[in-house]
This record gives sequence, structure tokens and C-alpha cells, in this order.
Amino acid sequence: MGSCRNDLTVGRAGRLVILGASGDLAARYLLPALAELSEQRCLPEDFSVVGVARDRWDDTRFRAHAAARLAEHAADVDPSAQADTVARLRFVRGDAGDPGVVRRAIDGVESPVAIYLALPPAVFPTAIDAVAAAGLPAQSRIVVEKPFGQDLDSARALNARLHDTFVESAVFRIDHFLHKQTVQNLLGLRFANRLFEPLWCAEHVERVDIVWDETVALEGRAGYYDHSGALSDMVQNHLLQLLSLAAMDQPEGLDEQRLRDAKVAALQAVRRLDRAAVRRQTIRGQYLAGRVEGREIPDYTAEDGVDPTRDTETFAEVTLFVDNERWRGVPFRLRTGKALQRNRREIAIRFHPVDHLAFGQPADPQPNQLVLQIDPDEVILDVALNGAGDPFQLDHVQLDLALPAQEQSAYARVLLDVIDGDAALTIRADEAEESWRIVEPILDAWDHGVVDLRTYRAGSLGPDAPQGET
Ligand code: BG6
Repeated sequence: MGSCRNDLTVGRAGRLVILGASGDLAARYLLPALAELSEQRCLPEDFSVVGVARDRWDDTRFRAHAAARLAEHAADVDPSAQADTVARLRFVRGDAGDPGVVRRAIDGVESPVAIYLALPPAVFPTAIDAVAAAGLPAQSRIVVEKPFGQDLDSARALNARLHDTFVESAVFRIDHFLHKQTVQNLLGLRFANRLFEPLWCAEHVERVDIVWDETVALEGRAGYYDHSGALSDMVQNHLLQLLSLAAMDQPEGLDEQRLRDAKVAALQAVRRLDRAAVRRQTIRGQYLAGRVEGREIPDYTAEDGVDPTRDTETFAEVTLFVDNERWRGVPFRLRTGKALQRNRREIAIRFHPVDHLAFGQPADPQPNQLVLQIDPDEVILDVALNGAGDPFQLDHVQLDLALPAQEQSAYARVLLDVIDGDAALTIRADEAEESWRIVEPILDAWDHGVVDLRTYRAGSLGPDAPQGET
């Protein structure tokens, strides 16, 4: 059983409207998450889901599509919960930019609705206008997927458009990383343990590595990814969110206002890189053909739908500094790439070595390191102990805690918060803008050729791996 809430201060949504219901996001994430919530009995009794798309479909066709996608992407969900999910679905054919279509999708509902923009980002502005023109029941909310804008100006414009119609607490800018168990564990680990919190600063921490290496390659997503690239796809949102959680001061509470105030303050302190710093502190790469986990991967530029002249990066590494008292001089290295040798998803806090070591000749004086691994979730602490043989010789051991698998998937938690109207684990307007403030100068410098695009073989450790390892 997953957990469902019963302490709501706003009305629970009675309907989810998915704009872009025939797309990949709905098929891979939203419909399976709904099935999961149905299995866990977290969906309100009369909760309905209306899919909107331009396809020449009707209710029956949409339900058949959903049943097939659930069989594919939610195979472990009980068949009766899959059937219950399908039975809740209705379809409205039309353009998400047409207020009449939105009106038909919310027809007959009096409780708050949640409108989910599962659409290509280019369509967000017209869809927001259509939703505004349609008029929604009181306490309704709008859910906007990443990427939120392509730069600071477009993010500001999108925020202004949303605020014309919605109060900030009704806008859910999604970052599903905030719903990953180990990401949330970072808060408990940091703030509820005297062992860590006093050490969480420049005096004791040497560097922080936030790494999201993936074995997956393009996976047929050229239409989106070739225009985005690793920096906008991962660093601007997910990895900066992880940085904000790792770097922020302890908020007085974990509600939507105070948690996000603390995160924004951390992002505001991140130093913008000038051109020289971009040259020194960033790496961009693109994969060449290779083998990953037994699969043959072509050159990125040979993938279907890729425009080789765009020079899109499939690997990005950025070292940032948080200019405040707590983090003075500590590098935060953010790194992500596709088609790499292995999945490595972690936040690693490396501590300074001790000031004085009484042990004469330590074989290998490694400092402490705390690693939070995500999916599979593990907390690993590297410590030095007296050796088993010679007690005055140091050994290094890993205290390794494997956490139980997350009860609810990240998207099930996303949808639950959307239905419940809890925006604490979403991105506030100012957070989205701060993130672009940090990333925009890097994008701009890369567009101007300040940093060469390096290549790496698919299945390797990336463009920065030592010779012989690529
Ligand atoms: C998505 C990115 O937001 O996050 C993908 O668009 C990336 O490129 C994915 O693969 C990683 O998230 P998860 O939850 O699948 O590990």
C-alpha cells in the first residue's frame, strides 16, 4: 500500500484532464501512475480522467490504446486496477489550444480539476491561453511539464502568462526527481542527524558530485531531445534541484512556502559563469557508435530525426560554486550523459581528510565520503577503521545501507500531489527563473563555440574518462 493523504486544505481534484493524451508521457508515465494509484486505492471514488488529443479517436479507441500501454508499462499492476483505470477514461478529440475543446473536457464536473500539459513545450503558451479562456472550477490547478522555457526570457514569459490566470499555488511545475525516495531522504539525513548537519559546510566538505550517468541512448526522442540537449534536459532542472536540496539551509518547515524559499536562496547564491569560467568549468560531449549493455548504439548523429548540424550534446558536466558563507570555495560538480557504460545516479559528499593523523603510514589515507545512490537506493558511508591484522594500520570500509524499494513510483507521487493540491514538491516560478539564470550563460557560451564538443564512445565512461577507459 502506498500512502494517500487525508489532511487536505484545498479541494481534491475530481478530474484529471491530460492535454496530449496520445503521447509518450501519458503512455509511459501518467497512465501507469494512475493504475498504480488505483491499485493502492488512492484515487477518489468518482475520479475521472479525460484525454485530449488530435487523433481521430473516440472513448473506445482511447481505452484500447490505454489498455495496451498499461499492459506494456504497468505489467506489474494488478489487472483489475488496470481495468479500473481504463474504465475511468474518456476522450475528447481536438486541439489543446482551442478553449471549446478544454470546455468539453471539463464538462459536467463541479469539483476542482487538474489540467496536465503533456504537450510539446512549443504548445504550452496556446494551451495555457485556452485553459484560461475556458474557465475552470474554483481551486483547479494546472500542471506544466519540463522543460519550463528554453531560456530566462521564455521562462519569465511563461510565468507571466500563467499568473494572468492562476495563483502560484495552483501552478504545478513538475520535476519528478523531487519525488524520488532517496532525493527526499537527503532532507532527513541532513537535517535529522547531528552526525551530518554540523559537517555540512565548506569547513568539512571538500566537494559535492551530483552524477546522473545513464545507459539509455536517444530512445526515439529526437524530436524533443535534439532541440534540448543534456544541459537543458537534465542540468537546468533535475540536477539543479538536487544541488538546491544538498546546498540549502534548513527551512523552518517543509511546507510549500518555506521549503521552496530555502531552495531558491541556495540557487540565488550560485555564481553565474562568465565565458572564461564556462571554458574552464564545463564539458560537453556527444556519443559515437558503440555497445551498451549488449545493445549496438549508432552514432548520435545517425539516430533517426537528429540534425547533425545542431551539435546537440548528449553529455554535460558543469562545476558550480555556491557563493555563501556555508559553501565558500566548494565545487559542486553536476554531470550527466546518455549511452554511458553504466547507470550511476548519485549525490556524493566528499569530506576533507582529518587535520592530523596519528597513524604513521596509512596505506591509503582516503577521506570520508557519503554517497546517496538513487535507483537502486543505497546510502554508503566510506570510513577508516583499524585494520584486521596490524591494529595500527588503517583499513577502509563501506557502511552500506540498501533501502527498500520505493512504494510508489515518482510519477504516482506527482499525480497524488496534483490531485491533493499540494505544491511543496514542485518548482516555484522564481526557482525556474533562477535555474535559467544559472544555465543561460553556459548555453550561450556553448552556442558561441567557447567549449568544443568532445566525442565519447557509447558504452564508455564519457568524454572525460582517462585514456584507455573510453
Ligand atoms: C527525464 C529526461 O526528465 O528524466 C530523460 O528527459 C531522463 O532524458 C530522465 O532519462 C531520467 O529520469 P528517470 O526517472 O527515468 O531516471
